[in-house]
Amino acid sequence: MARVILGVTGGIAAYKACELCRLLAKAGHEVTPVLTADAERFVTAHTFEALARRESPRELYPHLLEADLLVVAPLSANTLAKLAQGIADNVLTQTALAFRGRVLVAPAMNVRMWEHPATQANAALLTERGVELIGPEEGELAEGETGLGRMTEPEEIFTRCRVLLGDGGPLRGRHVLVSAGGTREPIDAVRFVGNRSSGRMGVAVAEEARRRGASVTLLAANLGVRVPPGIDVVQTPTAGDMAREALARRNETDVVVMTAAVADYRPAEAEEGKRPKSEDDWTVRLEPTQDILRELGESRSNGQILVGFAADTGDAGLVRARAKLERKRADLIVFNDIARAGIGFDAADNEVVLISRDGERAVPRSRKEAIAAVVLDAVEDLL
Ligand code: CTP
Repeated sequence: MARVILGVTGGIAAYKACELCRLLAKAGHEVTPVLTADAERFVTAHTFEALARRESPRELYPHLLEADLLVVAPLSANTLAKLAQGIADNVLTQTALAFRGRVLVAPAMNVRMWEHPATQANAALLTERGVELIGPEEGELAEGETGLGRMTEPEEIFTRCRVLLGDGGPLRGRHVLVSAGGTREPIDAVRFVGNRSSGRMGVAVAEEARRRGASVTLLAANLGVRVPPGIDVVQTPTAGDMAREALARRNETDVVVMTAAVADYRPAEAEEGKRPKSEDDWTVRLEPTQDILRELGESRSNGQILVGFAADTGDAGLVRARAKLERKRADLIVFNDIARAGIGFDAADNEVVLISRDGERAVPRSRKEAIAAVVLDAVEDLL
């Protein structure tokens, strides 16, 4: 059961939000309806309270903090603009501004309002910030016109809510730990030894695991990409931080996916403050870091699945990746050839070979989101 805030704004489609409320409540979710004054011109709060089978809480704020999803359906052009600009002039817009979880909105308006550059810019801004838009759909509109502007049907919005809540997903009840990004090992107060990993692959894996219903913790090392809501993020900028946080969670984790580029070496002594420039050479001695995946492999509890990534080059790299499966006692190694242009480090695409004890599978060049899905399919098979 999840906590859902259902925002309803003014418009004829508001009556359809009653059905969405009923579907969410029937699925066992705790629904808190929040209607704008305009919405109440079309429907009443009592209708929603009856359908949600509960009264609106007097104190909305505590509910808000714990809600898993905010869905606004229908979303008027006016409220869409307010959400984009961060205007908080009623309970719904205040809720939206304070809320830190997933947000799904179903715009519904006149086609000319939808197509106006102002609305399009506002919608693009929301998408950029991670808000999910569903619709509007093509069809007959309230004023007798036809075009894009109809609210998506409640059943379809409900289905999207279920996906966002990880409801009934195959990884429901599982704890998944994902590491992402590249660690930075300080040389002095401002300099570090690092790498080019953006964390995109790891964030895609974390998001896909969440979509499949897992509770996900992301160990984040200097990410260059945004993490969608609904994922527990722990900042682990150095290899030492990542090792500490990963090992502390090993017993409560069902699946570990190490996509992070963890430094193999760190400066043995980081200087305090910034080292001033001089004419002399500067020798930095590097010492090995702890191999997190290997440590997890050696001490793993029953049934835990361990996945490693191996960024290497050419056929020799593939051979080394195969050896990593045994050396790190992992269940799956995902090899990607970083010598190829346009894939791997800091790119949107990847092309990988999945290596397990059951064999190998080459996955052709695809978006990292699609690669994440293939990796988690393999994890589900192993579970
Ligand atoms: N890894 C780790 N801890 C480290 C180094 C790497 O857990 N200190 C993990 C990575 O997150 C990755 C896997 O081990 O999932 C393979 O990393 P890679 O750098 O390819 O392997 P290494 O063991 O460092 O071997 P080499 O650099 O010699 O290829």
